[in-house]
Amino acid sequence: LTQFAIIAVCGYLLGSLSFAIIVSKVTLGKDIRNYGSGNAGLTNAYRTMGAGKTLFVLLGDIAKGAAAISIGALLVGPVGKLVAGIFVILGHMFPVYFGFRGGKGVLVGAVMLLLFDWRIFLIAFVLFFLAVAVTRWISLGSILGAVSFPITTLLFYRDSVLTAMAFGMAVAVIFMHRSNIMRMLHGEENRFSFKSKKTI
Ligand code: G3P
Repeated sequence: LTQFAIIAVCGYLLGSLSFAIIVSKVTLGKDIRNYGSGNAGLTNAYRTMGAGKTLFVLLGDIAKGAAAISIGALLVGPVGKLVAGIFVILGHMFPVYFGFRGGKGVLVGAVMLLLFDWRIFLIAFVLFFLAVAVTRWISLGSILGAVSFPITTLLFYRDSVLTAMAFGMAVAVIFMHRSNIMRMLHGEENRFSFKSKKTI
C-alpha cells in the first residue's frame, strides 16, 4: 500500500508540472490558458506559440510522464505503470500548482501507453494518425486513441482490473474533450495546420 501511495503522490505532483503553462509564463510572461483553445497542452502550445517553444512543452511533458511511470514500474511493475499513469494524467488535467486547470491528458497518456505496451500504443497512434490525416481534428484523433485503450487492453490482457483502469482513463480523457466534441458537432472545431498562428 505504501508503494501505491508513493506512486500516486509522485505521479500527481509530477503531472501537475504543466509545461505548456510553465513555458508560456517563463518565455512570454503570459498564460497559455488565455489563448487559442484555452487548453494547457501540446496542441494549443503549437497553435499559439509555434514550434520552437512547443518543443520544450513536448520534452517536459514526456519527461514528467516517463519519470512518473518509471517510478510505478520500479515499485510495483506493470500495474504500477497504469496507477502512475492515472495520477500523472490527473495531475496534468488538474494541476495543483496552477489552480487545477490544466490539459486534456493526451500526450502523457500516449507516453504511458508506450511504456505500458507498445502494441497498445501503436494501435492508438494509428487511429489518432488516420483521424487527424482525414479531418485535421487533433481532438478527434485523441478521442479515438483513448477509446481504443480499454478495448486493446481487454483483448491483449483479459484482465478486469487493467481494463477497468484503462476504461477510467479513457473516460477522463474523453470528458476533457467535451468542448471539442460540441465544436465538432457544430463544425467549429479547430483544424490542425502546420503553420502556427502564434497568437500569444
Ligand atoms: O491534446 C488535446 C487535443 O486533443 C485538443 O487540444 O487545444 O484543440 O483543445 P485543443
